[in-house]
Amino acid sequence: MDALIARAINDLSPARQAVALTGAGISIDSGIPPFRGKGGLWERFDPMEIAHIDSFLRNPAMVWRILVKDLKDIIDTARPNDGHKGIARLEQLGILKSVITQNIDGLHQMAGNTDVIEFHGTFAWQRCMTCDRRIETSQVDASELPPRCVCSGILRPDAVFFGEMIPPAALWRSQEVASRCDVMLVVGTSAVVQPAASMPVIAKQSGAIVIEINPEPTALTGMISDYLIPGGAAEVMNRIISGLEGIR
Ligand code: APR
Repeated sequence: MDALIARAINDLSPARQAVALTGAGISIDSGIPPFRGKGGLWERFDPMEIAHIDSFLRNPAMVWRILVKDLKDIIDTARPNDGHKGIARLEQLGILKSVITQNIDGLHQMAGNTDVIEFHGTFAWQRCMTCDRRIETSQVDASELPPRCVCSGILRPDAVFFGEMIPPAALWRSQEVASRCDVMLVVGTSAVVQPAASMPVIAKQSGAIVIEINPEPTALTGMISDYLIPGGAAEVMNRIISGLEGIR
């Protein structure tokens, strides 16, 4: 792994337009479970049953009870870990411009990144399905499910359920920054959900170096990524940042 860390430091040091694509794996060390693999949410629940927009419309109380309430309790107290902090440091060093995240936990913004594209929306806000008012999730009283807006409309996470479109602005901006980046760091994603998983392909086709940080190989490994650093985001980012700061 040392040689791969050294290679990433070498690739990132001259970069000025780097982009990170992140997934649930980067937030595991902040106490937020992933979706797939060991301890994954989708090992316990069928996403098509509880994370599809049709399920929510059919039975919002059930989706709130099974999926949203627990996530709310976890995300309300989650804080950035060294993986998020390392990516924020890359922006402070002038190496990284944007983060495309599939995560809805708001931890990249909390860590200090200023351009975070929330590809699957955000859990930090709830939206009224009647009057479209947005309310911070931490301000929502979830003692009654589903929680309701003052207009008595049902509140839903401002996140993207399965069966819904990616917010057009997020999709367009992600494609744009992916096509202009010089390095793409792909951190903590299984790269199985489209169209997020196409961003590294766009980056590669545009001539960028694509570096994966993940304990496991993914569908990108060996095909799209230049190399995979087989480790956890927090540990690997710590080593990359200390290497970059050592040569600054
Ligand atoms: N550091 C980095 N990566 C890790 C770590 C870690 N400490 N621990 C696990 N991983 C990796 C796993 O090997 C896996 O490849 O993180 C990845 C998590 O994959 P998923 O749970 O599938 O998460 P993600 O890729 O973000 O899912 C994409 O699927 O269900 C939808 O909307 C949901 O945004 C989500 C999308």
